[in-house]
Amino acid sequence: MFQSLYGRLAAVLMGVFVAVGGLTLLASERMLETERLLELASHLILGALAFSLLAALIVFRLLTRRLRALCVAIEAFRDGGFAAPLRLAVPVAAGDEIDRLARVCVEMSERIAGQLDAQARAEACRRELLANVSHDLRTPLASMQGYLETLLLKADSLAPEERHGYLQIATRHCERLGKLVGDLFELTRLEAREVRPNLEPFPIAELAQDVAQKFELQAGNAGLRLQTTIPPDVPAVPADVGMLERLLENLIENAMRHTPAGGVIGVAVAADGEAVELRVSDTGRGMAAEELAHVFDRYYRVDRGEAADAGHAGLGLAICRRIVELHGGSIRAESRPGAGTCFVVRLPVAAPRLSAG
Ligand SMILES: Nc1ncnc2c1ncn2[C@@H]1O[C@H](COP(=O)(O)OP(=O)(O)OP(=O)(O)O)[C@@H](O)[C@H]1O
Ligand SMILES: [Mg+2]
Repeated sequence: MFQSLYGRLAAVLMGVFVAVGGLTLLASERMLETERLLELASHLILGALAFSLLAALIVFRLLTRRLRALCVAIEAFRDGGFAAPLRLAVPVAAGDEIDRLARVCVEMSERIAGQLDAQARAEACRRELLANVSHDLRTPLASMQGYLETLLLKADSLAPEERHGYLQIATRHCERLGKLVGDLFELTRLEAREVRPNLEPFPIAELAQDVAQKFELQAGNAGLRLQTTIPPDVPAVPADVGMLERLLENLIENAMRHTPAGGVIGVAVAADGEAVELRVSDTGRGMAAEELAHVFDRYYRVDRGEAADAGHAGLGLAICRRIVELHGGSIRAESRPGAGTCFVVRLPVAAPRLSAG
């Protein structure tokens, strides 16, 4: 009964009634003794009125004290730009209506502050992305423009080999631009959930073998050995073939780029319980733990100045992660500086629930 405001009010009023009743009894006895009936009756009425008023004021003040504290906290929340949630000592459970109201206000303020924070972080991320994209677009564009303008201005004075060389450089920059724009477009579509993987049971071991084979010539030219470990009994997984091909290409391409001549690139597939595990390893330069923590962030490159990274925007692994998520799987990287890196992809054998992602 005392849990609700109504119950508390009723209890206080009952107390007032008992007190007034007691006073009336006392007064009646004196009235009978002294026979000053009229005077006593008027004192009694005035006393009862004053007592009720005072009791009502006390009750009202008690009730509104917590409401005032709540108002002050909400105003502070507003004045602080809705950034810090309400700081109010509220009982965790039960309590009366004001406690419940305060609890809901605290929850609401936490939600609002959290969403504003997430929005601010997304905005900062968007600005950084825009800055990175414009930088990466500007560099090859400016270079391309320079070579083409030189060709136009000095067409007559340049030797044919020089002209050819200039055109080759301009074409390379053009390809770089095309790759960057293509990757950005693909990542945006994957993140915006515009594309859904077309999942079909697929022998992933065969795909890994095919993709690895595609890189054999390139690996040989770079002085690398490509080693595949693909047992015959790997179960099929529900997969989008195009997406998984892209995933494997990204991982193998990275491994080859960061491994010096004489190194080994491994591509292995294995059944592991309810999942199929895909490993792309290398004996290259490896990464430190703090670098590893960011490799799947879009636009992250360990060393932006490195020649091997020229023309690479740092989108490949972000695309890989999104592809794996869309397949209901997981991707992680293990690495040690100087010892090499291994990317491990786990894909569930049972079809994932696509509505989740
Ligand atoms: N096998 C690897 N060994 C060492 N470092 C790696 C390896 N794979 C990735 N990295 C590091 O992680 C960074 C991010 O890789 P990611 O594939 O996302 O981008 P990228 O290869 O630089 O560019 P893109 O893939 O867009 O062409 C790379 O720049 C590189 O520094
Ligand atoms: Mg890459």
